[in-house]
Amino acid sequence: MRIVPIAGGKGGVGKSLLAANLAISLSRSGHRVVLADLDLGGSNLHLILGHTGRRAAIGTYLANSDIDFASLLQETDYRNLTFLAGDAEIPGLANISVTERRRLTRNLQKLDADVLIMDLGAGTAHAILDFFLMSSQGVVVSSPTPTATVNAYLFIKNAVFRIMHQSVPRKSVAGRYLDDLFRGDRARPSPYIRVILDEIESVDPEHARQIRDNLRRFRPQLIFNMIEDPTDAEKVQRLRRSCQQYLSTELLHLGIVYRDELQDTALNARLPILAYKPNSLLSQAINRVADKLVHVNEDGDQPLDLEEVDDSFDVAEAEAESDFTTKVQYVEDLLHTGALSTGDLVETVKNQHFEITQLRRQNQLYKAKIRKAIEQGFDG
Ligand SMILES: Nc1ncnc2c1ncn2[C@@H]1O[C@H](COP(=O)(O)OP(=O)(O)OP(=O)(O)O)[C@@H](O)[C@H]1O
Ligand SMILES: [Mg+2]
Repeated sequence: MRIVPIAGGKGGVGKSLLAANLAISLSRSGHRVVLADLDLGGSNLHLILGHTGRRAAIGTYLANSDIDFASLLQETDYRNLTFLAGDAEIPGLANISVTERRRLTRNLQKLDADVLIMDLGAGTAHAILDFFLMSSQGVVVSSPTPTATVNAYLFIKNAVFRIMHQSVPRKSVAGRYLDDLFRGDRARPSPYIRVILDEIESVDPEHARQIRDNLRRFRPQLIFNMIEDPTDAEKVQRLRRSCQQYLSTELLHLGIVYRDELQDTALNARLPILAYKPNSLLSQAINRVADKLVHVNEDGDQPLDLEEVDDSFDVAEAEAESDFTTKVQYVEDLLHTGALSTGDLVETVKNQHFEITQLRRQNQLYKAKIRKAIEQGFDG
């Protein structure tokens, strides 16, 4: 079973939307898919699928050991797609214990399916990182805003540290070294993972090797969602470079997805976009990502092919250009057919002016926040 955790650090970047629709897309191409809502404490996947929140779900299961895990699986309107709901109503669910987490993880791993898609919550809590690391090729979603990319970076950084920690026994020299590092007992650690690894190597070479092996297998895959135009697509480069430079980690680009107002209409109709408008640009972009998701890296544990990584970024940029052309073409067509009057167009431009002013103001705010985050986060 291919396990696909979908995380991102920041809230509202489209993790749940992508999880639900990628699951539908893969089920349509013949894969048996389980979609699991592991945003415990903030579950909303059932709403995207149009299910009610009344059925037994993961929270109920954790609270009650008599429940059979398999009985939680819900049929959906989509052939080949089964749903595992999360429970938003049970308080404290976001902080489940290590034992509960293990029990849940074991059950998830035993599911009978081709693909398990897991929608994770925002943030970098241990529970989220552990679900994310059930695969070494988890998906990270970011939007092009500076806060989202910084959050994506911090999420990946936390995952890297979690891998290091879990690669060695607690009581080993390397384990104690890492413990000290996390507790802040050491002088300010280097922001470069490779420097930290060299330090560990000098005191505990055997475990340093183990950490390196595990980190080599780690290859997060990126989806850049809610972009507005092709220049947004380029904003991924800073995230990519930071991951290379500081974390010695290569990101693989699964592709870009434009922000599409149609999604709001689909949401109001309580239908996933893939069901509401299967031919929309948004649906096509999601299908494209789904295709890559199952075809890239079929050889599981092999180290990343750097050429493939480069290609994935080039392809994403080309997709950003071509989708944009399609979008512009669509507006032109509307104008020609008269479906969109000149008045509508003037109104749209006015609205955009207003939005731009708002965004500028927000931008100033973000800049201040980013400067702070960079000082604290990007530099270690
Ligand atoms: N490409 C897109 N075009 C238009 N709307 C989008 C797009 N992606 C996401 N959205 C909308 O943005 C909002 C946030 O998306 P979603 O709930 O999937 O984010 P999330 O990352 O799961 O958030 P949370 O961390 O709160 O769970 C939703 O209203 C969703 O419909
Ligand atoms: Mg969500």
